[in-house]
Amino acid sequence: MFATIQPPPADPILGLSIKFKADNNPLKIDLGPGIYKDETGATPVLACVKAAEAFRTEFEQTKIYLGSAGSGLFNERIASLLLGDHQAIQDNRVRTISTPGGTGALRIAGEFINSSKSGATIWVSNPTWANHQGVFTAAGLNVKTYPYYDYDNKCLDFEGMMNALKQVSKDDAVLVHACCHNPSGMDLNKEQWQQFAELANEIGFLPVVDIAYQGFGAGLDEDAYGLRLLADKVDQLVVCSSCSKNFGLYRDRIGACSLIAKNSTVADIIYAAIQRVVRVNYSMPPAHGAAVVETILGSEELTSQWHGELEVMRERISQMRQVLVSSLADKGVKQDFSFITRQNGMFSFLGINGEQVQRLQDEFSIYIVGSSRINLAGISPDNIDYLSESIAKVL
Ligand code: LMR
Repeated sequence: MFATIQPPPADPILGLSIKFKADNNPLKIDLGPGIYKDETGATPVLACVKAAEAFRTEFEQTKIYLGSAGSGLFNERIASLLLGDHQAIQDNRVRTISTPGGTGALRIAGEFINSSKSGATIWVSNPTWANHQGVFTAAGLNVKTYPYYDYDNKCLDFEGMMNALKQVSKDDAVLVHACCHNPSGMDLNKEQWQQFAELANEIGFLPVVDIAYQGFGAGLDEDAYGLRLLADKVDQLVVCSSCSKNFGLYRDRIGACSLIAKNSTVADIIYAAIQRVVRVNYSMPPAHGAAVVETILGSEELTSQWHGELEVMRERISQMRQVLVSSLADKGVKQDFSFITRQNGMFSFLGINGEQVQRLQDEFSIYIVGSSRINLAGISPDNIDYLSESIAKVL
């Protein structure tokens, strides 16, 4: 049975962690996977999470099955985090399920779309998260790309994006990143969101919003601006969200897939249908991460502690953007890197070529994704000099 299986290529993101761990250079720097690190390079469990876990340990009374949708309380609170007090919630048109991480949400969304239209096309930005293509292909969808990042001018190619999306069919799905675009850090502004939402409404394609970094751009509500605007304009919408980054629950695998339907009758039908997709896949989601998040979001005190901790993460990353740009200039780099300060979230492209990326790894033990995507959260006061000197050397 297994005799003909070939080893798969290394994962472009997770493969870096393996190499990084094996590297003995004391100066090594990990700017690979999207994981927040503090200025000491650690990723500690958030204090609000520790408190919620202590609470759960004391008061949890059973471990019986939760069902394919997961915890109702978590689902309700996540929908509010995403949509605020949006009319769609008040109209009872939103249904949310808990999923094993944001990736689980994307896979279930993909399979759900495929179950309603086999082999449907989903459009993703070029570039996009390295796993989108694989997840949607595995779910049976046909993946196509629309222009997004202008590599030469280090900005959004909004005109190219809109021109491509004007050709999309009403039966297609279009994936957009709500904020902190992964990998470019380049987001739509308010006016561009307006135009995108109008186009979605006009053509009638299904927007699928990937929101994995809510709170890492400008703030929790600010980062949901485009998503909420879309929910104003279109009848149906899929939202895939993650608690990996903003709650630091990476390994606990907790995310959500939310569906917004035309009315509550349709919402009930698609809610049952998506639970069927879950049931024949992993049956039901793990409960721990959801319990932690619902405990935090259900307590004013823990929520405010979480807001504070999230702000510290957001501010530190934004500061590292400035620090990197000025440090490169200090090391005599003539190239303009100021675009990094105009981008959001954990990532930006350095804009160097594959050979230079490889030299950073081989000669300096600096690990970045092959596309030249860097995780700004891996930069610290301790490694910034070595990092910018090394970049200067490979340029
Ligand atoms: C990333 O893009 O680095 C993260 O989302 C981690 C992952 O699963 O790829």
